[in-house]
Amino acid sequence: MNPLLGIDFGTTNAAAALVSGKDVKVVPHADGLLTLPAVVAFPPVATGGRPLVGREAQALAVRHPERVITSVKRLLGRKLEAPEARHQRQEVPYELVMAKNGDARIRVGRRHHAPPDVAAYIFGALKDAAEAMAREPVSDAVVAVPADFNDLQRQAIVDSARIAGLNVVAVMTEPAAVALAAGIFPLPRGHEKKDRKVLVYDLGGGSFSVAALVVTEDGVEVLASGGDAFLGGEDFDQRIVSEVCEDFMRAGGVDLRRERLVMPRLRDAAERAKRELSFHDRVSIQLPELASRFPDGMELDRGRLESLTQDLVDRTVWPCETVLNHAKWSVEDVDVLVMVGGQTRMPRVRAHITDWLGKAPMDVAAPEALTALGAVRQGVAVVGGGRRAKGQKKGQIAITETTCLSLGVENAGGVVTRLIPKGTPLPASQAQVLSTSADNQAHVTVHLLQGDREMAADNDSIARLQMGPLAPAPRGTPQIEIVITTDGAGIPRATARDMTTDEPIPVRVRPSGGLTEAEIVTLTALHAGGTVAAPAVDGAPAPGGAGAVPVALDDSATTDAVSLTGDAPQIEAPDSRHDSPRRGSGAPRGLQRG
Ligand SMILES: Nc1ncnc2c1ncn2[C@@H]1O[C@H](COP(=O)(O)OP(=O)(O)OP(=O)(O)O)[C@@H](O)[C@H]1O
Ligand SMILES: [Mg+2]
Repeated sequence: MNPLLGIDFGTTNAAAALVSGKDVKVVPHADGLLTLPAVVAFPPVATGGRPLVGREAQALAVRHPERVITSVKRLLGRKLEAPEARHQRQEVPYELVMAKNGDARIRVGRRHHAPPDVAAYIFGALKDAAEAMAREPVSDAVVAVPADFNDLQRQAIVDSARIAGLNVVAVMTEPAAVALAAGIFPLPRGHEKKDRKVLVYDLGGGSFSVAALVVTEDGVEVLASGGDAFLGGEDFDQRIVSEVCEDFMRAGGVDLRRERLVMPRLRDAAERAKRELSFHDRVSIQLPELASRFPDGMELDRGRLESLTQDLVDRTVWPCETVLNHAKWSVEDVDVLVMVGGQTRMPRVRAHITDWLGKAPMDVAAPEALTALGAVRQGVAVVGGGRRAKGQKKGQIAITETTCLSLGVENAGGVVTRLIPKGTPLPASQAQVLSTSADNQAHVTVHLLQGDREMAADNDSIARLQMGPLAPAPRGTPQIEIVITTDGAGIPRATARDMTTDEPIPVRVRPSGGLTEAEIVTLTALHAGGTVAAPAVDGAPAPGGAGAVPVALDDSATTDAVSLTGDAPQIEAPDSRHDSPRRGSGAPRGLQRG
């Protein structure tokens, strides 16, 4: 088996685990830590810098906050007008602009970066660190995604990995990965119960997720999942920042919130203080800017932090109750509580959830690497040849993932007809019979949506599937069967046939967002240090090679072109945008179920 990476791509941190031969190891980074800050910075041309990743990138925030891209995960597969992107726009110092197809783009200087382009630098850094450890090339990977990621978001994360030169052999959900790595599966020999009910509580830097899973002798099944995409460690940091700013003002200082250069330093100091308060009762926040009023630093104790953030901890309980409801469990039913995500190191968070559930979390080693370790374990099962759970055949997969959002099509009146309901085991397939509404109609188009709301407009638009050309016929007579298949690794696939003749009908899948195959190929070459025949925009060297020319995807570019960026007019995407098949030879193989 080739070496294989399991990747946890978080909002604030990324981690990777590598299986090479019989060894499974968490990939360390330059500073010996097991996680890499999921931050990318594009230094100004004058400094001659190439894009930076991780702690080096964070350091640029003091001078050039607008060039430092944090929380890119929240932008993957998102329209600029989506609530998540609108929220992000208010929070971050970098600029977001709209691509021609409505997708969010990140503007740095004159360049517009697609979120997968930025995310690919982080995937690339994980790959480089893994190769440095393994002393051999590493290209296969399993990527964990939040359970509630829709198919466009999953596609975007797969595309990001591809741009970094990785071949994604499978996509799995983060809670399922946690369950695989936490030592819950396989069940211990002689275990008295046939299955165990597990609640995975994951409070990370930018988001909260919770999932109910059943672990049986054969595998892990995700029954229900939920969470809050806008609740994480950063909110805790922000409470400290606000407290410091108010105290400083009260003590007769200026309003620090107006000090553009001070705020990034204050946010860093607040995050450090928060982490220290998980181990100490009292910390002192020191910044040169505070010294005029607080020469010994500003004191903060654990109790104060707890009262400043208790409502944030409370807010995690409601999603847990909803997930238990969906799984039809009561709190007493839960056999195992697993708490992961850096913010669960805060003692108050653990105590609150322990009180609520009446059960203490299980002890896990290396909680920050658990998701990546689970992903690598899944990779071994998918690709085969490595260590398997007892009784598990080669290639057999231990996990039953289910769809977390319903997949449906838009009907007359803008109402959704559900095809594959939430909770269906993956891969899932569903046929639908359609006909024409006009005489001699040449094409039939269906609008694919994801979500559980009744009206199409309230769900996520995933793709439009266009079937045709059809033979001329009076309206209502053609009987077209379309089969939609999803494996949880990106945009669903579709095939169609004429039910009278049994002839296949070509289907064009036009995703509602994301990069085209040509754009992915171009970016992949750029990240690999290749050259592209396009003029440099601001003269910065491209990643990976002196001869390479830096370019970014421009919203005014045509489908296949890569060119200068600028203030492109916002025009409708041409229909041909996604004509090329999305899954070329280098495309992910997707989940293969045994
Ligand atoms: N000892 C600690 N005490 C409190 N908080 C901590 C501690 N260590 C890390 N954190 C916080 O954990 C958060 C990062 O957690 P994690 O790495 O799990 O997030 P992530 O996976 O990147 O984000 P997400 O899961 O939201 O996508 C940060 O907000 C960090 O401040
Ligand atoms: Mg996480």
